[in-house]
Amino acid sequence: MLRATGVSRSYGDDTVFRDLTIDVDAGEVVAVIGPSGVGKTTLLRTLALSLEPDEGRVKLDGTDPWTADEAERLVLRRRVGMVFQEASLFAGTVARNVEYGLRVRRSWSERIASLFRLSGAADAVRESLDVVGLTDKTDQPVDSLSGGEAQRVSFARALAYDPDVLLLDEPTSDLDPRNTAVIEDAVGEASDRGIGVVVATHDMHQAERVADRVAVLLDDGITEVGPTAEIFEDPADERTRKFISGELVY
Ligand SMILES: Nc1ncnc2c1ncn2[C@@H]1O[C@H](COP(=O)(O)OP(=O)(O)OP(=O)(O)O)[C@@H](O)[C@H]1O
Ligand SMILES: [Mg+2]
Repeated sequence: MLRATGVSRSYGDDTVFRDLTIDVDAGEVVAVIGPSGVGKTTLLRTLALSLEPDEGRVKLDGTDPWTADEAERLVLRRRVGMVFQEASLFAGTVARNVEYGLRVRRSWSERIASLFRLSGAADAVRESLDVVGLTDKTDQPVDSLSGGEAQRVSFARALAYDPDVLLLDEPTSDLDPRNTAVIEDAVGEASDRGIGVVVATHDMHQAERVADRVAVLLDDGITEVGPTAEIFEDPADERTRKFISGELVY
């Protein structure tokens, strides 16, 4: 569904990654693992169609947003949701933040119509909050939430947005085991709904738990992409093996 082929990206003279190929299908969970600074966030922003690759192509269902006109690019971009490394909520209640996901997704005419169908929106908000176990916090201001709860609200907002592809950037890096488990279950729920999920993580065990396939991003490219069991038990690439076993330390 979403496919990047031979993409490269630099900042000035600094090449972040080169000739990288990765794809995600509907309902599939792909984990991108690799050390800090290797380019996971840059890759996710490329997949979010918000950062243009220097070389190579990114296509959503066969359409390249960077050769499409701006209006079409916007439509394509709207099909991809991203949860950022830092929870980025705006001041207001939990419900308002999640509802925002619904609004962005809708066209103007639908938005106006939706003003008259607030009960429907409330159901969708409740349903998304239910996935992350926060229905009891609906009317609480987000600045009073714990870090873990805030990250779960960000996830609920992305889910309410109903994307075809969901990109998660280190969704549990600061979270305790319980909040982590909630997010990981929510990834499963998103995949059950047919959403293609790409999750960037430095937690190899998380990749092992949630992913159907794993991409190992080292230095300036992906060393290997494969089914999760294969990457962890029998990687083809020597550098992948060293990274997985902890011999290759950055
Ligand atoms: N806007 C930018 N301008 C210049 N350099 C950048 C920019 N964004 C990222 N970089 C650089 O690109 C490299 C990759 O950064 P990126 O954030 O993609 O890594 P990451 O794998 O997500 O790291 P982490 O695990 O710490 O989040 C880093 O060296 C970073 O300093
Ligand atoms: Mg990052």
